[in-house]
Amino acid sequence: MSNLVVVGMQWGDEGKGKIVDLLCPSFDAVARYQGGNNAGHTVKFGDQHFSLHLIPSGILHEGLHCFLGNGMVINPEAFIEELNGLEKRGVESRGRLWVSDRAQVLLPIHPQIDKAREGAAGEQKIGTTSRGIGPAYEHKVSRFGVRVADLESEALPERLALLLPRVHAELRALGVADAELVSAQQLTEYCRRAAQRFDDYQADVGLMLTDLIEAGGSVLFEGAQGALLDVDHGSYPFVTSSNSSAGGAAVGTGVAPTLLDGVLGVLKAYGTRVGEGPFPAELEGDLLDQIRERGHEYGTTTGRPRRCGWLDTVVARYARRLNGIGSLALTKLDVLDELDQIKVCVAYEIDGERVDQFPADLAKVERVKPIYETLPGWRENTLARPTFEDLPRNAQRYVRFVEAEVGAEISLVSTGPRREETIAVEHTRLEEWVGGVTIG
Ligand code: IMP
Repeated sequence: MSNLVVVGMQWGDEGKGKIVDLLCPSFDAVARYQGGNNAGHTVKFGDQHFSLHLIPSGILHEGLHCFLGNGMVINPEAFIEELNGLEKRGVESRGRLWVSDRAQVLLPIHPQIDKAREGAAGEQKIGTTSRGIGPAYEHKVSRFGVRVADLESEALPERLALLLPRVHAELRALGVADAELVSAQQLTEYCRRAAQRFDDYQADVGLMLTDLIEAGGSVLFEGAQGALLDVDHGSYPFVTSSNSSAGGAAVGTGVAPTLLDGVLGVLKAYGTRVGEGPFPAELEGDLLDQIRERGHEYGTTTGRPRRCGWLDTVVARYARRLNGIGSLALTKLDVLDELDQIKVCVAYEIDGERVDQFPADLAKVERVKPIYETLPGWRENTLARPTFEDLPRNAQRYVRFVEAEVGAEISLVSTGPRREETIAVEHTRLEEWVGGVTIG
């Protein structure tokens, strides 16, 4: 069995949750390697919906072990809320959910800074999820952060006493009232309480995962967000603050990169983006409304309406190269079912020149005129077609066109939210990696 990284190839919300859920039975463990409660999956329990933001939805698969890696920023309150929600629904996490002792703790000051900055930024705002993700990573990198292992440390009050004056100075400058500023003592007490919450779950995750793999076990590394939101490779500064691309999987879990066997990319059949930042193939008007409503394109974490666009293969090719994607899951194909014609952005025109690579300079991205190929729609329902050959001919053509443009095989086609609304294409690399994909 292989150790596989699953990553989003656009700006997040590609439908990774469903694909990971589908693949869970083929793995012994699922590990998240970056991000925090900015991510979100909606999970269905009978008729009830329930959101998970930190804990992998793999926790719903009996016997599967779930890991939160050192590359994550973990809000203790959000963590406990999810644990309680799971417990209420009869899901026991103790003994199979593990939080890295090296993961960063997202403290109450982080959302406070995030919101104050965004509020003051006006036109320059990023459109964050306001969960405090950026400030928490900032403190990690500036070496002021608090890790799970530090929560009970004797040195903690001194460390917080070093950190807090900087935080207070910034918050005051952003107009936050003194009454809303937390003291070092309050924050120390918060950390001590948080320590108890992590007690049953704290572990050396890198060691556990490596032992599991070396004993013949297999791990699915679950990326949150998407390649274009990666802090190094995305549309900076309109990105999240972590390495969401596959390279983050090793660093963010403490598993050596040589133990990773392959990368499955998840690509939505059209584009979406939440928050600010460039989006070259963005749609407006009726078509935007139609796709947003049909695709239920509203954020799981913030409820914000998502911006929607045509599929951009400049972005997808970039994500393929960056992540070393050997196989693709194409999701939400059914959302395009009613369209007469479907456009795919195959290249950019910038200042009169054809460009095939995603530029680093955002001023150039803003000047992009997308070059489109137009394909005929299929105007038929694609929901729950058991095999690729059962798809309408023009839908097959669309899938093959995307495959050729992106330069990687498509092994899964998702045509609806449920497991059985997925086509597993035969004789793919994904089959080799997981020993066959069982749908339903
Ligand atoms: P942050 O991660 O909250 O700092 O937000 C930075 C950017 O990433 C914003 O544009 C967010 O909308 C976006 N973002 C963060 N998490 C997700 C996600 O899970 N899906 C889609 N976009 C996200």
